Amino acid sequence: MAAHTDNAIVIKAPFDLVWQMTNDVESWPWLFSEYASAEILDRTGPTVRFRLTMHPDENGTSWSWVSERTPDRETATVQARRVEPGPFEYMNIRWTYTPEVGGVRMRWQQDFQMRPDAPVNDEAMAARINENSVTQMNRIRELVERAAAGVAERPAARVGPDLTGTNALVTGGTRGIGRGITVALARAGATVLACYRQDVDAADDLARELKQHGDDNAVLRADLSDPDEIDRLMAQVRERVGTLHTLVNNAGAISHIPFESLPVDEWHRVIDTTLTATFLLTQKALPLLPDGASVINLGSRVATVGIPLRAHYTAAKAGMVGLTRSLAKELGPRGIRVNVLAPGVIDGAGITAEKRAQYERLTSLGRLGQPDEVADVALFLASDMSRYVTGETIHVDGGI
Ligand SMILES: NC(=O)c1ccc[n+]([C@@H]2O[C@H](COP(=O)([O-])OP(=O)(O)OC[C@H]3O[C@@H](n4cnc5c(N)ncnc54)[C@H](OP(=O)(O)O)[C@@H]3O)[C@@H](O)[C@H]2O)c1
Repeated sequence: MAAHTDNAIVIKAPFDLVWQMTNDVESWPWLFSEYASAEILDRTGPTVRFRLTMHPDENGTSWSWVSERTPDRETATVQARRVEPGPFEYMNIRWTYTPEVGGVRMRWQQDFQMRPDAPVNDEAMAARINENSVTQMNRIRELVERAAAGVAERPAARVGPDLTGTNALVTGGTRGIGRGITVALARAGATVLACYRQDVDAADDLARELKQHGDDNAVLRADLSDPDEIDRLMAQVRERVGTLHTLVNNAGAISHIPFESLPVDEWHRVIDTTLTATFLLTQKALPLLPDGASVINLGSRVATVGIPLRAHYTAAKAGMVGLTRSLAKELGPRGIRVNVLAPGVIDGAGITAEKRAQYERLTSLGRLGQPDEVADVALFLASDMSRYVTGETIHVDGGI
């Protein structure tokens, strides 16, 4: 058996606003009444992968699953599916946006099948979806129409530092943790430049998101394993913003190779991209760093505990700690703070279910970290709230 639901509503608001608000997954806990949180796990091209967690049900259970959606602005459609189907055999959702006089018709078509052991069958789930779609669509219509009338702004999710008037550079800002930090800094009001090496789709996607926070934000290409490209990048940074209040040395390289067969080229690739690039970038950035600037170097929990097959990576990350300690002392008299932000295992693309379960068991909090949880600590280090913190390594690892 397969089931199908089809629901639609007309929202009286400009097309772009409807498209933008309903595709801003991070705002879904506000836009929908049923979600307690929406955590972005990965962005690859236009596709966003995210974990939705519902408010606890009557038994106190908070249902949570991973979904994926790919918006296509040209065809005004979104193809979505549950990556973790849970009680469903599968669940696919197609969103269609059709302009109408004075508004937009937003349509949700859901195709699914329940598992034989699911607590409800196809028919009951279809009834549930139909009822809930009316509730959610009405809420969304109301919020979007109020935003169109200028009377409803999405409330600030949390109070955080205000970085308005500051400039930041985040290396490797287009994916994973770097993207989380880039977006968090931009949301906090900073003008952010992010660099990447090769993934143009991820860069374009970030550029689109950054535009929402200010026209001066930009995404620049530079391969940091090449000192000439670092020079070129810093010349662009100088030209675009002149001063850098926050420098986040985030880009890094990793591979898994037994020590006995680790080629020297691979040793250099990892050390160059991680440690040498941090040295060169920070050195070239010095003339741009004002009194009170913050340098944040991404380290790793494994730098202090070690891990098999990653001798080159852990050596680079441990080197980051020494570099940071010395720079904190050397640059402290100029009021520049330098710290290491050392994540544990952070959720992202490429973690197998088996690895996830293994890491979850090792972590005190019983789950992987999210990029925004690392970004929150980066916000702290970028802001005045950490004005007396330097030379420090802050682990953000859920107690692994
Ligand atoms: N993820 C974790 O669990 C974890 C744990 C501990 C520490 N860390 C550290 O946190 C940092 C970010 O990790 P992540 O897992 O979020 O990384 P990621 O998802 O692999 O993203 C890496 C980013 O760095 C860029 N990049 C890679 N090599 C580059 C180069 N040579 N020049 C310029 N940019 C380059 C990539 O750009 P392209 O996509 O264009 O190549 C991308 O934007 C790294 O320093 C990592 O060692 C991560």
